[in-house]
Amino acid sequence: MSIQLKNISYTYMAKTPYEHLALDDVSLTIPEGKITAIAGHTGSGKSTLIQHFNGLLKPDSGTVLVDDVDIGTKSTAAKQARRKVGVAFQYPEYQLFEETIALDIAFGPKNMGCTPEEIQDRVKYAMEFVNLDYDKYAERSPFQLSGGQKRRAAIAGILALKPKYLVLDEPTAGLDPSGRQYLMERFMRLHREEGTTIVLISHNMDNIASYADNVVILSKGKVLLQDTPEEVFRNEEAIKAAGLDLPEIKVILNELVSAGLDIDNRSYTMNKAVAEILEGLRRQGRC
Ligand SMILES: Nc1ncnc2c1ncn2[C@@H]1O[C@H](COP(=O)(O)OP(=O)(O)OP(=O)(O)O)[C@@H](O)[C@H]1O
Ligand SMILES: [Mg+2]
Repeated sequence: MSIQLKNISYTYMAKTPYEHLALDDVSLTIPEGKITAIAGHTGSGKSTLIQHFNGLLKPDSGTVLVDDVDIGTKSTAAKQARRKVGVAFQYPEYQLFEETIALDIAFGPKNMGCTPEEIQDRVKYAMEFVNLDYDKYAERSPFQLSGGQKRRAAIAGILALKPKYLVLDEPTAGLDPSGRQYLMERFMRLHREEGTTIVLISHNMDNIASYADNVVILSKGKVLLQDTPEEVFRNEEAIKAAGLDLPEIKVILNELVSAGLDIDNRSYTMNKAVAEILEGLRRQGRC
């Protein structure tokens, strides 16, 4: 099972002087049960792309399949398939509109027809997940929150839907380092314990290297690379051409290789890289 995009193109403000082709014949697969990261320079089409995953945007051409169901039709099956995908927007302001935070988070479960008890449970679960204290924040207006709190409230609204595919557009932007780490660890736990498929848009290549099973690199509305992190990060020239950085650990390994250390520079996580460096030093009798 998967989300599959087949030959998707999307143009903003078509037939006006501001016409802009944001997605150009994009085909990709988001496999169930994995963590897929999507990266790309600003304006490359990432946010436009993920809004196609649950039909928020309709493509000019091409098909989106969620678990083999074409979501672009009016059928009940299409509606059910769209509901499997929860998308947390890049700018949480666009997602928060109710009077209180609790009502905002309850909006989705209510629409799904959950019982009042189930709604209450989901609101509490989602607020606890994003580390927003229920007693303190449930009755506050979302507009009284700081930027980081708004982001967490918006993510809670999506978590309350308990989607099979959880799509997060820059979920940790605007959070402090401890908030960022807390949230990423909670997402990983959700993935491990509930099997939730996660799609993560991120500019942070170190995060991508640490967490992703698959990586999609977008450039100017096209898929440039789509593979495992190891294969993607091997394409250093393509990554640089797309205006992205390599994970820092790759940069360090490359420096060490240029300085004459005989090691394999394909590792992209800290643990593997440290082991590789130590092994290289031992081989050369330096430790
Ligand atoms: N509502 C809109 N109307 C017109 N053009 C838009 C609109 N939204 C996005 N675009 C344009 O479409 C292109 C892709 O935008 P998109 O927001 O998908 O990029 P992105 O990869 O998410 O960028 P960022 O990293 O800055 O979030 C950009 O050139 C952008 O200017
Ligand atoms: Mg974006």
